[in-house]
Amino acid sequence: MTQDELKQAVARAAVEYVPTGIIGVGTGSTANFFIDELAKVKHRIDGAVASSEATAQRLKGHGIPVLDLNAAGELEVYVDGADEITEHLHMIKGGGGALTREKIVAACSKKFVCIADASKLVGVLGKFPLPVEVIPMARSYVAREMVRLGGHPVVRQGYVTDNGNIILDVHGLTILNPVELETRINQITGVVTNGIFAVRPADVLLLGSPEGVRTLAG
Ligand code: 5RP
Repeated sequence: MTQDELKQAVARAAVEYVPTGIIGVGTGSTANFFIDELAKVKHRIDGAVASSEATAQRLKGHGIPVLDLNAAGELEVYVDGADEITEHLHMIKGGGGALTREKIVAACSKKFVCIADASKLVGVLGKFPLPVEVIPMARSYVAREMVRLGGHPVVRQGYVTDNGNIILDVHGLTILNPVELETRINQITGVVTNGIFAVRPADVLLLGSPEGVRTLAG
């Protein structure tokens, strides 16, 4: 099976978690497969809250109403992919740059269903460079602070987030305590948020492998 076929399989499995009402939808290629599957059962939902402009466009393209999070209130379920995930369901996210809105929608959701192909499962987070969203004028300061934490920050070239900020991709971290590092980085002045999702981890992981879709629950 190709990686895309694995992504498609977990996207299909995630439809089982779609409630009636409003659902939160993530960003990225796996989330895109999920949106395509969601379109087939769109009569079940009132609409979706999008974690990025790209996701909003794709949802609208399928005729799924895109709703404002402030009007939607608490969501039953949020479905999204990950760049890395552990068996504790801690993740690195933000490869697609949407980490801040993803973290906001996840925070507002009762259940986070992560969909990923088997290549995303890791023992320790950090091989995937950690995305950190930063207010542009704080770029150099935050980069220096990331070096103090043992990382090698690289500015994501030619990229501006949906919130008008930049991304530092921080290489070389071995994240042994994700909750502590997530909290620590978020305390650096000028950081909007970082791509460790451990304070609010996933609740369910649907992991696609050639043997089938495995379900891990937190
Ligand atoms: C976007 C994300 C994505 O969930 C993450 O990058 C995984 O993407 P893909 O499904 O394309 O591998 O966090 O900001």
